[in-house]
Amino acid sequence: MADPNAPVRWGSRTTFVLALSASAVGLGNLWRFSYLSGEYGGGAFVISYVLCLFLIAAPVMVAEVVLGRYGGSSPVAAIRRACDGSLRSRGWTLVGALACLTSVLMLSLYIVVAGWGMAYAGFMQAGVFSAARAAEVGEHFAQFLAEPMQQVYWQSLFLLVASGIIVLGVRRGLGVLVWLAVPALLAMLAFLIKYGFDYGDIAATRNFLFSTRLVDFSGESVLVALGHALFTLGVGVGTGISYGAYAPQRIPIGRSIFAVAVFDSVLALLAGLAIFPIVFANNMEPNAGPGLLFISLPYAFGNLMQGELAGAVFFLLVVLAALGSAVALMEPVVAMLMQLARLERFTAALIVGAVVWLLGLAVVMSLQPGQGWAGFGERNLLGVFDMLTARILLPLVALLVTLLVGWRLRPEILRLELARESALFFSLWRFLLRYIAPLAIALLMLAPLRAGGV
Ligand code: PHE
Repeated sequence: MADPNAPVRWGSRTTFVLALSASAVGLGNLWRFSYLSGEYGGGAFVISYVLCLFLIAAPVMVAEVVLGRYGGSSPVAAIRRACDGSLRSRGWTLVGALACLTSVLMLSLYIVVAGWGMAYAGFMQAGVFSAARAAEVGEHFAQFLAEPMQQVYWQSLFLLVASGIIVLGVRRGLGVLVWLAVPALLAMLAFLIKYGFDYGDIAATRNFLFSTRLVDFSGESVLVALGHALFTLGVGVGTGISYGAYAPQRIPIGRSIFAVAVFDSVLALLAGLAIFPIVFANNMEPNAGPGLLFISLPYAFGNLMQGELAGAVFFLLVVLAALGSAVALMEPVVAMLMQLARLERFTAALIVGAVVWLLGLAVVMSLQPGQGWAGFGERNLLGVFDMLTARILLPLVALLVTLLVGWRLRPEILRLELARESALFFSLWRFLLRYIAPLAIALLMLAPLRAGGV
């Protein structure tokens, strides 16, 4: 058999769903979704996000899983096999390579931010921000960014853990991780929501997240919702292909992806319910991204009862969510190296880890004062990589997947992979994949949006 990973399988269908869920739940859920919802029209934004998720992002994810089930765990080899099976040009394998490039770039961002999360869990627990003023917390973050050694230490530790899980393999590493991580994420969120209800401002949160403000809702809102839907489900980076390849034979792919999308959205909403009561309790302006995570929230927790504990739990949640995403970003690249270069899993993980570590180092160095760092604009690598992956590469790969699977592969092959789903589902899925998704994604790529990805 050409695919050395072929016999490797998740322990069960649930593990497959959990693995994709752990990949989907990441920084995007924590530091972006609820902010976007607040900024782009509240309830109206949430509705357009749900539509984009189920009508566009989920069909693309189903296509990726189908590719993986049919062709194997490495994005490049899977696409080659699928093209051979449908007598199509092998030039499409470039899409697999692009997906892996996207993964590597995203991973290098993830390890940096997860490293910050680890450091901040420690700061919170030690009471560094207790009763601090907002300006002090901002100053602390600027100083923290100016010290590369500390960041490199934490990012290395995080990468080591992620690589260790990859080396342990699909069953003993990834499979075990997701069974531990998903319940732990839920438990931590439950704890934080309870904390928010006890000490936070629920009324302001409800108003910010859910009241529909049509003034803020526009065509741009829908495109931002689409961009976020693609990002949060994790299409375009090869995860669907690899994780799909490890799925047990004859799983109902459509229903599984549906479950993942529901779980991902529920978690994003819960994260908003955990975060914003705390932000509003201190009468702060809502914001997103690093400013929300590393300035607003430490300040907010630092000024609430038992904020040390709750803050530390929050940052552990960030790290754990990032871990599920990080392994999902790493696995396709490792699988590709294993197949193309015929390497052992350990060696492949070592090589990918080294490349990502160096890129992460470059990101950290670009944040040093004097390197043009200006409030996370585009002049540092964090902004550049974010823009490049979330705005360009990820939608591009997703678009190419819709064209490949929707237009170039033989429908009989696809039908066989989706044998557990009804004929109606199949026709609807194929229609969305061929017409709606490519058009919508092309529009997204052409629109001049302000918002990046993470
Ligand atoms: N879905 C993750 C998030 O919301 C990002 C991600 C994309 C993770 C692709 C893995 C694969 O942060």
